[in-house]
Amino acid sequence: MNTQLLHPASDPEAIATAAELLRRGEIVGIPTETVYGLAADACNVDAVHRIFAAKGRPQDNPLIVHIADLEQMYDIAAVVPDEAKALAETYWPGPMTIILPKKEIIPMVTSGGLNTVGIRLPSHPIARAIIRAAGVPLAAPSANRSGRPSTTTAQHVMEDLDGKIAAVVDGGPCSVGVESTVISLCGPVPRLLRPGGISLEQLEAVLGDVTVDRALREKIDDTETVSAPGMKYRHYAPKAPVTVVFGSPEQSAAYISAQLGENSGVLCFDDCASHFAGHAVIETFGRSDDETEQAREVFDALRRFDTTDVAEIYAQCPPSTGIGLAVSNRIKKAAGFHVIDLTEGET
Ligand code: TXA
Ligand code: MG
Repeated sequence: MNTQLLHPASDPEAIATAAELLRRGEIVGIPTETVYGLAADACNVDAVHRIFAAKGRPQDNPLIVHIADLEQMYDIAAVVPDEAKALAETYWPGPMTIILPKKEIIPMVTSGGLNTVGIRLPSHPIARAIIRAAGVPLAAPSANRSGRPSTTTAQHVMEDLDGKIAAVVDGGPCSVGVESTVISLCGPVPRLLRPGGISLEQLEAVLGDVTVDRALREKIDDTETVSAPGMKYRHYAPKAPVTVVFGSPEQSAAYISAQLGENSGVLCFDDCASHFAGHAVIETFGRSDDETEQAREVFDALRRFDTTDVAEIYAQCPPSTGIGLAVSNRIKKAAGFHVIDLTEGET
């Protein structure tokens, strides 16, 4: 298949072309404010199957359904509790996915066999224009091959999926850079299933108590049942194994410097790069005091290691506050939760 690259900035037909492909049951890479999505008509079973095939994604991992206007939530969700309305009114359009009981219009293949559906109203104007023009809600996982880091540019999408999908719409680099926050409102207490662009603190400001899923902090065994099936799979990983070194930037830089071997790589803060110069392949992902910048750059930095011949990667990691929780979660997952904590024992 020849994958078309569409440019809405210079081609006034780009959005209509993407929408027409989607209506015909094709799959299309689209920009969102978080990461690029691989979109299909959420109600078209054959189209949704194409997403799983192109990504190499396990069938039990549900897809998020994207809408263009808040009212569309009522077409898809069987129950919309007051908490969902409050969250939607506060943080939509934006990087947050709400899990609710689903209506029958959403087929089981889209929801990975669950009776619930993840709903997201993205803020990216091109994403919303495409959903509106397609006239159907769009199922869209991140537009990467399963297991790889998510894609934050149209070029990343082409790297992973060229020849496997009908088109990619180039909307430039994503402004948030990590995926949406996934919050389930299906149980007695709201449960954070994946940290993302909306922080835990922001959720708590609206909801009060929020339970944090165990899968955010530690590795989950393949045989265990988890709330967000996506959490149990190896994810975001470059080819070389990653070790996270957690501590202050100075502490982790000193520790990593002492470990470097012949083919080491270091994922580090901009302001720490000079520690490793000449001793390792260095990929930076933003300043140590700017977690928003780190979120924007972390996946691109992880991907860049695959163009090098490093045999091991040491990674610095921000503290778990604000959007830092999402950044540290992605880096720890890339490392399969192999973490050296230099702060252990400190008071
Ligand atoms: O920012 C994002 O959310 C991006 C853009 C494209 O919108 N999408 C994205 O989708 O990251 P994906 O499929 O890569 O990740 C969705 C996560 C998975 O961990 C999945 O298991 C979980 O959300 N999820 C989706 N629907 C769910 C449901 N009904 N119940 C529990 N978890 C769900
Ligand atoms: Mg993904």
